[in-house]
Amino acid sequence: MKILVTGGLGFIGSHTVVELANSNFEVVIADNLYNSKEDVLEKLEKITGKKFKLYKYDLTDKTKVEEIFNKENIDGVIHFAGYKAVGESVREPLMYYQNNLISTINLLEVMKKYNVKKFVFSSSATVYGDNGYTRYVESMGRGETTSPYGTTKAMIEKILEDLYYSDNSWNITLLRYFNPVGAHESGLIGEEPNGIPNNLMPYVMKVASGKLEQLSIFGNDYQTVDGTGVRDYIHVVDLAKGHVKALENAPAGLNTYNLGSGKGVSVLELVTTFEKVNNIKVNYKVVDRRPGDLPEYYADASKAFEELRWKTEKTIEDICRDSWNYERKMNN
Ligand code: UFG
Repeated sequence: MKILVTGGLGFIGSHTVVELANSNFEVVIADNLYNSKEDVLEKLEKITGKKFKLYKYDLTDKTKVEEIFNKENIDGVIHFAGYKAVGESVREPLMYYQNNLISTINLLEVMKKYNVKKFVFSSSATVYGDNGYTRYVESMGRGETTSPYGTTKAMIEKILEDLYYSDNSWNITLLRYFNPVGAHESGLIGEEPNGIPNNLMPYVMKVASGKLEQLSIFGNDYQTVDGTGVRDYIHVVDLAKGHVKALENAPAGLNTYNLGSGKGVSVLELVTTFEKVNNIKVNYKVVDRRPGDLPEYYADASKAFEELRWKTEKTIEDICRDSWNYERKMNN
């Protein structure tokens, strides 16, 4: 089975290419290198011992999308490509709606034309919005999103639902990720945010490696286990395997799954575990809450377990060890 992976050189995309290759899927990559580097391709080939065709195309150009489907016999698509920085999306909403929506619609139109109807979409737990719950279950439906980035995810979910209702021969899987972190155990691929990181784990690594002075912990007065924010951190390799299971095991129709560990971990717990596992100090200070942050949420991941036969296998210790291994190997 030949799978087109859009954004296949990015953080989650690249790890998914590895797991697809390990499960003997044929992989074609489309990536415009906006938020990724071309040398990831060689690293993927080194890890898997396989070669991958790369189309350095921008999916907002429909003629380019068409060219891929014309040349390759694609059986299914996993769609990661898209802008993903929450703060930037607030400053540049049009850029986010233009890029994320147009590229997805182009892809779906071309898929329809070529009668390719298997689609896995990279969605986010952010579509639940602030719904007053801490444990998110798929049956809750979408809430009010808090950033244009999140709104593009929710809008694309809705577009896919409408498409499915218009033609139920599509097989569409919406995967809602919780907080993807970690890196491949080879240390060759991992997360490479541009500039100063916004997310916790990349920031912790920059502080641990001495590139940034101090981590700011955004609030310690939440109603949580130790007052700091609680999230469901998922190792990117577990997440990648979830995509393979979605291709292999998702039932017919349109299905939505949370991909998370089902366990909440606080900011302080994560920092302390990182220090212990890697035997290194992370300087931090507690500052005010970050506007827009929710105190606590994590996945109910039982639907993915029951229907996809997938669950996370890696621990928070594995996450901290593999992240640090990558940072040391690639960036020092
Ligand atoms: N945090 C800090 N200091 C930092 C960065 C983060 O204390 O420097 C805390 C946050 O307050 C939060 C936790 O660490 O409690 C996790 O924050 P991240 O920024 O790593 O992740 P978020 O949960 O805020 O972001 C995630 C996804 C986004 C998604 C967003 C929606 O990464 O893609 O949820 O809420 F859009």
